[in-house]
Amino acid sequence: MPEHVILVTREEPIALATINRPEKLNALNWALVAELADHFEELDADPAIGCIVLTGAGEKAFAAGADIAEMAERTPMEMATGGFEAWDRIRRIKTPIIAAVGGYALGGGSELAMHADIIIASERAKFGQPEILIGIMPGAGGTQRLARTLGKYRAMEICLTGEQVSAREMHAWGLVNHVVPDGQHVEEAKQLARKIARQAPLATRMIKEAILAAYETPLEVGLTYEKRLFAMLFATEDQKEGMRAFLEKRTPEFRGK
Ligand code: COA
Repeated sequence: MPEHVILVTREEPIALATINRPEKLNALNWALVAELADHFEELDADPAIGCIVLTGAGEKAFAAGADIAEMAERTPMEMATGGFEAWDRIRRIKTPIIAAVGGYALGGGSELAMHADIIIASERAKFGQPEILIGIMPGAGGTQRLARTLGKYRAMEICLTGEQVSAREMHAWGLVNHVVPDGQHVEEAKQLARKIARQAPLATRMIKEAILAAYETPLEVGLTYEKRLFAMLFATEDQKEGMRAFLEKRTPEFRGK
């Protein structure tokens, strides 16, 4: 494996992160996920970046899962402790992330796409949790996020059979935001990312935080949380600018303050 497998290009106000291991269908080993988390944290701390697009190099895969060659001889203790820290770091990124899926998003690849906030998929993209076919189960959130997004019955079938699901089916089931013609997933994701990155950055981050909180809290608690974040935004210059611009019939100039 080359030393750096994540390529990052900044096209401010957005950034594109590409998993660049196409000869192994972008299989995710621990070093790769840690490198991805490092880049995401760096971009998250950069006020010039308002949205991140994540994709996989090559035509075949977004990522075909955790690296089975690396995983094959791991001990239970290693799996329990070593592998998930980087995933947790990715889960805590505050900048909106769009996954641009052009091919296989299987196992950890599907789970990584589900760590994003929006999923754009090309026609030939395939999703699935094939862990069962090698005697294990999803471990980076697959059972939980599929159950919450698709419901119990579809999640059960996907995880229990390991069968691949088309982008169109995932779109109909609510996991994929948009299905686009082959090869256009990155461009479409970038276009959407630019639209998001034009908005007031503190508000976009709080929207992400509030929506993710819906997965963790009962409705009453979530509604209170939302109201607090909403009120906090009235302490920002961007709220004043946004409302003033509306009243003055001009485009707002947000500054992330
Ligand atoms: N881990 C490690 N290596 C992987 C991988 C994974 N998850 N997925 C693919 N690769 C490697 C293959 O071993 C092969 O390497 P090689 O050329 O050195 O032999 C290379 O990527 C190309 O894959 P290949 O299987 O030849 O491509 P294909 O088009 O015939 O099949 C898939 C594509 C996605 C159906 C098949 O690669 C596959 O089933 N991958 C594993 C998916 C999986 O179970 N993921 C969950 C893991 S928990």
